[in-house]
Amino acid sequence: MNSAIKKFYELPWNKRLNALAMESALKKEQLELLKSLKPFSFETADRMVENVIGIFGLPLGVATNFKINGKDFFIPMAIEESSVIAAASNAAKIARKLGGFKAESSEQLMIGQIQLKNAKFEKAKATIARHKALLLRKANECDKVLCKHGGGAKDIEVRKAGKFVVLHLIVDVRDAMGANAVNSMCEAIAPEIEKLCNCHTGLKILSNFAVHRIVKAKAKFSVKELGKKTVQGIIDAWKFACADPFRAVTHNKGIMNGIDAVAIATGNDFRAIEAGAHAFASKSGKYKPLTKYSIDGSGNLVGEIELPVQVGIVGGGTKINPMAQLSIKLLGVKSAKELAEIIASVGLAQNFAALKALATEGIQRGHMKLHAENLAVQAGAKGKQIKKIAERMINAGKISEEQARKFLEELK
Ligand code: MEV
Repeated sequence: MNSAIKKFYELPWNKRLNALAMESALKKEQLELLKSLKPFSFETADRMVENVIGIFGLPLGVATNFKINGKDFFIPMAIEESSVIAAASNAAKIARKLGGFKAESSEQLMIGQIQLKNAKFEKAKATIARHKALLLRKANECDKVLCKHGGGAKDIEVRKAGKFVVLHLIVDVRDAMGANAVNSMCEAIAPEIEKLCNCHTGLKILSNFAVHRIVKAKAKFSVKELGKKTVQGIIDAWKFACADPFRAVTHNKGIMNGIDAVAIATGNDFRAIEAGAHAFASKSGKYKPLTKYSIDGSGNLVGEIELPVQVGIVGGGTKINPMAQLSIKLLGVKSAKELAEIIASVGLAQNFAALKALATEGIQRGHMKLHAENLAVQAGAKGKQIKKIAERMINAGKISEEQARKFLEELK
């Protein structure tokens, strides 16, 4: 499979679909689903959330050129913002010249929290340690399927948080995002803890600060391709983010552009990933960028990313939404771990692309292309006129509906 399809963006829609059909494992029904532009039925929507009145759309695009751990991928991205998919594809094109992305991840361990009230820390800690095997067994009785697949509750930690004692149940959630499994286990063992520790329990809920579910990705970007000045510009842009939380937040927002788009396309809970990522960015006590950059012995730029990625490929939104199933099929991933590694790589690509643009021509030029085309359509342009008018507006640095109308008149 080769994801480096030349000028994919210039192909008409049906040719893009044909190219995907040739290069991926998408099934015939899934291609028909894409062509139908109807993601799912009312009945499916009604099973997903309450009070359904319709289905809200987002464009689904694919980023090309990605090579991750030696394998090519088409990356499905659902996003409303222009330039993000083009930027990711462009970054991946540069990265693949020096081997693409190398990614690795920890086990898929999530934390479930149980808040203990009126408990004495040392005493509760000792009691829980003595009964750890019993508590793990009770937790695992909740999810025999997960245990059958090698997952389940694996460990217990006890912490102090203010006046509360907090029990952390560490659960290997395998290929699920894991919220349901973890929450059920916490609720199931809480009465046992109340008996053992002679206390009350308060909240029983998973923590999205998924510090045991960490993914790292790395890529080299050739100095020959970028030029020394751009390499230094990107390093300086990153140092700015290290020094200033105001910049770091925007730096990380750019990373999340890519991460959320893949999370949404695969039916995952992007709010959970966002919450975990920003908490991770602040773990030192100061809000920091999630990426880092350096220059290697040959002058190439080395980009790295590290963050928690809590995603699944089974259950929840991934299972019920046929578009999410389609995205997972397109990626060809067989585990949540692999999906997390892809997502981290896309985050790094997105960040590299943003810093490259910001350190050189600025981002407005790229951002304005589709915006200018939209204005041309609003002004009444059709067919080839749209691109022509958009280009003229960008070159003239005058982008407005009024300007589009003027150029349209001139074309007639
Ligand atoms: C825009 O959606 C994202 C950027 O602002 C990210 C950045 O500034 O690094 C371009």
